[in-house]
Formats: sequence, C-alpha cells, structure tokens
Amino acid sequence: MPPIKRIGILTGGGDAPGLNAVIRAVVKSAWNSGIGCLGLEDSYDGLLEFDRSRILAPRDVTGILRLGGTILGTINTGNPFDSIVQTSDGPRKYGERVIDMFHKMGLDALVVIGGDGTLAIGHEFFKRGIPIVGVPKTIDNDIFGTTNTFGFDTAVAFATDAIDRLHTTAEAHHRIMVVEVMGRYAGWIALYSGVAGGADAILIPEIPFDIEKVAERLRARDKWGAKFSIVVAAEGACPTGGERKLLQIASSTHVERLGGIGAEVCAALGTLTGKETRSVVLGHLQRGGAPTSFDRVLATRFGGMAVDLVKERRFGTMVAWDPPDIISRPLEEVVGKTKTVPMDFDLLLTARALGVAFGD
Ligand code: F6P
Repeated sequence: MPPIKRIGILTGGGDAPGLNAVIRAVVKSAWNSGIGCLGLEDSYDGLLEFDRSRILAPRDVTGILRLGGTILGTINTGNPFDSIVQTSDGPRKYGERVIDMFHKMGLDALVVIGGDGTLAIGHEFFKRGIPIVGVPKTIDNDIFGTTNTFGFDTAVAFATDAIDRLHTTAEAHHRIMVVEVMGRYAGWIALYSGVAGGADAILIPEIPFDIEKVAERLRARDKWGAKFSIVVAAEGACPTGGERKLLQIASSTHVERLGGIGAEVCAALGTLTGKETRSVVLGHLQRGGAPTSFDRVLATRFGGMAVDLVKERRFGTMVAWDPPDIISRPLEEVVGKTKTVPMDFDLLLTARALGVAFGD
C-alpha cells in the first residue's frame, strides 16, 4: 500500500462550537506525520471545483481552537447525491462529480466532520470506494454510537446561563417563562439545561406532553408559595396526539426547520394558570460562541483519533466517545439512527424525583 500523503477535510450540516478545534487537530497531527491537508469549502461542495479548496498547514489553523463556526464553511442541505449540478465541465450528477474530483485532487482519504446527514452521505461515498473517516458533531447530541458530540456542552452552558437570567426576571414579576431550546428529535439540550437551570417543567420530543398536566404542576407551585415558574421546551417537543411545529418542511435544498412550540406552550399556560407568561427562543445563539473547555478537548481528541484511523487505513468508520476512551465505530452501525433520551436515563428519573414536570 502506498503511504497516505494527502487528506481532504470538510465540515457539513449545522455548525457546532468545536468544529475549528477538530480541523486544527487534524491538520496539526497530520502535518506532524508527514500528511498534507486540503480544506474543502462548504461540505462536499468543496469537491465540485478545484477553486473551492485550499491547502491547510499549521499556520492556517493557528488560533482557531477557541473560535466557534468553521473556517471551511458548511451547508445544511438534504442528500444531494443524485441531483444534477452545474460544473465547469458542464452538468454532472453530484455524487459522480465528487468522486471524480476526489481522485483528480490527488486525495488519499477524506475526513468528514458532520451530523447524521453528512455522515450518511459520507457512508454512501465510502460504499462507492472513497476512503472516509467520520467525526460526529451536533449541538443536539443525538448521534448514535457516541456518548457526546462536541458542541453539546457549549450549547447547554449557554442555555443554562439564559435560564439563570430568566429566573430572576420570572421571580420578580411572578411570571411563567417558557424557554425554547434546540433539539429536533432528541431532548438532550432541554433536559441538561433544564436540570442545570432548575426548570420546573421540561418538554422533550421523547415524551409527548399534556399541557394541562404541566399547568397543574405550575399551579401547585403557586399554592406552596413559588409564584413563578420556568419551562424549558425542546423545539421538537409535541403535545400528545399532536404534531411537531414545523417552520419549513424538508426539501432537496434544506433539512426541515422547527420552531414555535415555546410560544404555543406559553399561550396555553397563560390561559390554564391565569398567570402572566412570556416566551424566549434561544435559537442559533446556542450554536455560536467559543466552545467550552470540555468541547475543545473532545474535539481535539476526535481530530487526533481521525488522523490515527486514516494512517491505519481504518476507513468507513467514525470516531466516538465511549468514556473514558475515544474509539471508532463502523459508519454502517451508526448512520440513519438517532440517539434519543432513554426513558430510564438516571438524569430524567432524578428530575422526575425532584418534581420536574414532563407533561406525561
Ligand atoms: O441539528 C442541529 C440544529 O441546531 C437543530 O437543533 C436545529 O433544528 C437545526 O440545527 C437548525 O438548522 P438550521 O441552522 O439549518 O436552520
């Protein structure tokens, strides 16, 4: 086998704090092993044309460890595999163009940093002969096969800080404050930030809620003297027998967009409790800012391990955190699955024991 000389690196899907820390770790550790890196811009689109990539040396990644976002850019589209794209060589099938250009760019392997969608596309390319190593990312923490993804801890820290701030104003005005956080299919951010911020009700996609049961719990708080309440709702939470609140359905150019459950819950709780209510959507603020030290370390470990897997030619795999170790898993076992909050998860049970309402 000829030695690995050059690897491509890309970031796909919604950004997450820690992406730059992975890029830095990959570039530096590859460089120190005599492997060059080509940074591909805007996910797999960076493989469509030669001018959508740039060589990354250690000096290009110095100082990015602490930066949110991604120096490579990213896109959050659906699976473009069979779509037709206009290229400098005329119209081409997206997947075929990417494979062709991978070879023309002289790449020996591809490190793909992304969420389930990006990893699933990577898996498709792997099955078509492209040597891929995946690095899981999402603030939602819902990727199967890894205990944590980087970005999650930063998002939880931000949401917790926001809940702390809302606590004081809620208490001052004897109001119910509803905080909508991200989490399309899994309630990890809502559960962790809700518990860390001392929320009184937490609504997550895994547990369909009955709004009357939530209201009942908040009325009980009023009776024993707590005249305010904090409710944390994941964007993907939905009432029993109801639908998740979509802002935009999925299309070939974008994944589905959720939002609005916080405002709906807020209005219903106002009616059911007779109290003043307000709602706040934290939205993309959760994806911005500097990664926490935990996320920087996890991202750095992921990047280092990704280069090890490339050197060992263990392709078609994804790095993962299986505390205390960083391990690899076959992409095959991971893609297409969602890691949701288990109903017997101790944090969920503890929150219930403390009296937090989940609306069930
Ligand atoms: O998957 C991560 C995530 O932040 C979700 O929580 C959220 O629904 C989605 O991305 C938003 O994506 P976009 O920025 O493309 O609207």
